[in-house]
Amino acid sequence: MPEPTITEPDFFTVIGTQRAMRRLKPDPVPPEYIEKIIWAATRAPSGGNRQPWRFLVITDPDKRAEIARHYSEAWGAYTASGYGGTAGKQLSPEDADSNERVLRSSQYLADHLDEVPVHILVCTFSNPSVNAGIASGSSIYPAVQNLMLAARALGLGTALTTIHRQRQDEIRELLGIPDTVETAALIPVGWPMGRFGEGRRLPTSHVTYYDTWGEKRDAK
Ligand SMILES: Cc1cc2nc3c(=O)[nH]c(=O)nc-3n(C[C@H](O)[C@H](O)[C@H](O)COP(=O)(O)O)c2cc1C
Repeated sequence: MPEPTITEPDFFTVIGTQRAMRRLKPDPVPPEYIEKIIWAATRAPSGGNRQPWRFLVITDPDKRAEIARHYSEAWGAYTASGYGGTAGKQLSPEDADSNERVLRSSQYLADHLDEVPVHILVCTFSNPSVNAGIASGSSIYPAVQNLMLAARALGLGTALTTIHRQRQDEIRELLGIPDTVETAALIPVGWPMGRFGEGRRLPTSHVTYYDTWGEKRDAK
């Protein structure tokens, strides 16, 4: 078993360098790492503290291959439909470049998902009366983010993916998931081939208003 690269970055370094890591090594991940990141996920808030989550950890190679097949086909249909592409968009050269990188990296994941040693399906209970409108997902995605931050802290790469939902029925059948359960995210987990780095994000000054919508403060 390869020696895990355990980094111990501080909290803000973890947040600042947690980004979609889609190029992952096939090397195994020790179970205690998986338990630790799921523990972190379960520290998240949820409406009424209902904790409506279940984590389905998939390491079986045949099941991963089948999930990867569905994922890849769904990804192919997504890109073929023009979504995620740049056609018809007025993008700056930087945005076009960034878009291109996301597409390339996403394509890599779609082509290699079967090789990623651990797939985690973060599941939640579908309850139309609770999970309606904008609140849909709000009791599960904090847990997803905690899981990914904890993985980053341990040196593990992850990416939040949802394309698999196009094949949710098939994935439910494959894994014995009841119809009353939604698969909110499929998170590939593995040791990254590349390095963690800062994601491309808007500056806080661009996205923060004070007291009145649109009112900015001069940067100090
Ligand atoms: C709701 C949601 C759904 C996403 N679905 C996918 C997906 O299906 N496949 C994928 O490769 N990335 C997916 N992503 C990852 C985004 O592409 C990624 O977070 C974004 O490009 C920023 O990447 P960065 O953290 O590397 O800067 C998703 C992210 C979110 C928040």
